[in-house]
Amino acid sequence: MSKRILKAQAIMVVGAQWGDEGKGKVIDFLAPTVDYVVRFQGGNNAGHTVVVDGVVHKLHLLPSGVLYAKKRIVLGNGMVIDPEVLLSELDNFETKGFKLNLLISERAHVIFPFHIIMDGMIDDYKGVLGAGTTRRGIGPAYADKAERFGIRMVDLLNKKIFREKFDQLFELKKNTLQKLYQQRIPLHKETIFQTYYKFGQRLKPYIGDVSLEVNRALDSGKRILFEGAQGTLLDNDHGAYPHTTSSNTIAGAVCTGVGIGPTKIDEIIGVVKAYLSRVGSGPVPTEAKGSMGDYLRERGQEYGTTTGRPRRCGWIDLVQLNYAARINGLTSLAVTKIDVLGGLKNIPVAIKYRYKSSLLTELPADLEVMRHCRPVYKALPGWKNLTDADFTTIITHGYKALPKHMKDYLAFIADQVNTPVSLVSVGAERKATIQVP
Ligand code: IMP
Repeated sequence: MSKRILKAQAIMVVGAQWGDEGKGKVIDFLAPTVDYVVRFQGGNNAGHTVVVDGVVHKLHLLPSGVLYAKKRIVLGNGMVIDPEVLLSELDNFETKGFKLNLLISERAHVIFPFHIIMDGMIDDYKGVLGAGTTRRGIGPAYADKAERFGIRMVDLLNKKIFREKFDQLFELKKNTLQKLYQQRIPLHKETIFQTYYKFGQRLKPYIGDVSLEVNRALDSGKRILFEGAQGTLLDNDHGAYPHTTSSNTIAGAVCTGVGIGPTKIDEIIGVVKAYLSRVGSGPVPTEAKGSMGDYLRERGQEYGTTTGRPRRCGWIDLVQLNYAARINGLTSLAVTKIDVLGGLKNIPVAIKYRYKSSLLTELPADLEVMRHCRPVYKALPGWKNLTDADFTTIITHGYKALPKHMKDYLAFIADQVNTPVSLVSVGAERKATIQVP
């Protein structure tokens, strides 16, 4: 890893593909070197799996920094928070013996049970135009925020304001669900109100002004890691709309999602799986259907952390990756799960798309083009499966011990995307993350 990253004060880690790139692992690697780990968008649609000493930790709302004692972990205002899920995650970590040093933005929006019901109804209604959401209420909660009906964490703490806003929102949702979707909210209004008020009281010690604290921390020289969720192709403005999530997932979203200026960020690491996976619906040009897709899924254990759904798998797509490098302003790449590709004779890498008689090098915005474009592949030579002995040598000697064709594969990606590779992950364990000199 470059000295620049090790010295940088504010580092961002974002997904450069469709989410599930292995951001949690990269963040877990960098977390010991920082004072703060800050999330700025999304909610419990995210899922990180981090393996420490053989113990698997699954996270949805809490940033991966939670696995390190004394780290300040922050949930920014750009997030939508299901307080029930957050409390169960907090309880779970406290039971495992982790001491939490958590700050939740008072301005983050709250997900209620009716958001979760609506999420499923709306996605079903959309049919092929749906995204195949995680059904965690993310889209409907962001929609209420945009409509200015949203209820924020700070509102849960003020019973008078909470009552005023909740009564209005509940009636609206009850009527919408009944009249448009012939559904009833299965919970009693008063029960939801009282339960969420109590959630607010339990979370009160953690709720505060995130922008103020993060800016002060930056001013006093603290090192901060900003943790993106989902991935560039799921960004609601720049992703494969409408098959996206409802937040901005790209690097720029940190400014609105935390309340810091764009000049504050020093390094932006794009996490890239060495192949490709996507959970949810919509066109994925390099999806490998049939036995090759099954092979990648099984080798990579590609099943959603949040929903358990099998992920659609395929080959790395440099059209998308170039786009991600540009949209995010990536300063380096962290390539994960490269070990999964071991044992293949050749590895296809998409360098362009073909649409009718044209060759495309830019990601199309037109859904029709996205649906029908076909990747143009270049086949790169593969390498053998890594044995336990190879793995030990790599852990001991680092980057130089990687198989030659694996290094060539990384160099090809870096060259095509015009962005250096700073980290490579060759296995699930924390120690399997290798720095690239
Ligand atoms: P939502 O975020 O639940 O509304 O889902 C919208 C789309 O984003 C769906 O295609 C989901 O499968 C996808 N998605 C949301 N969060 C993640 C994630 O953390 N990893 C991968 N896909 C995600």
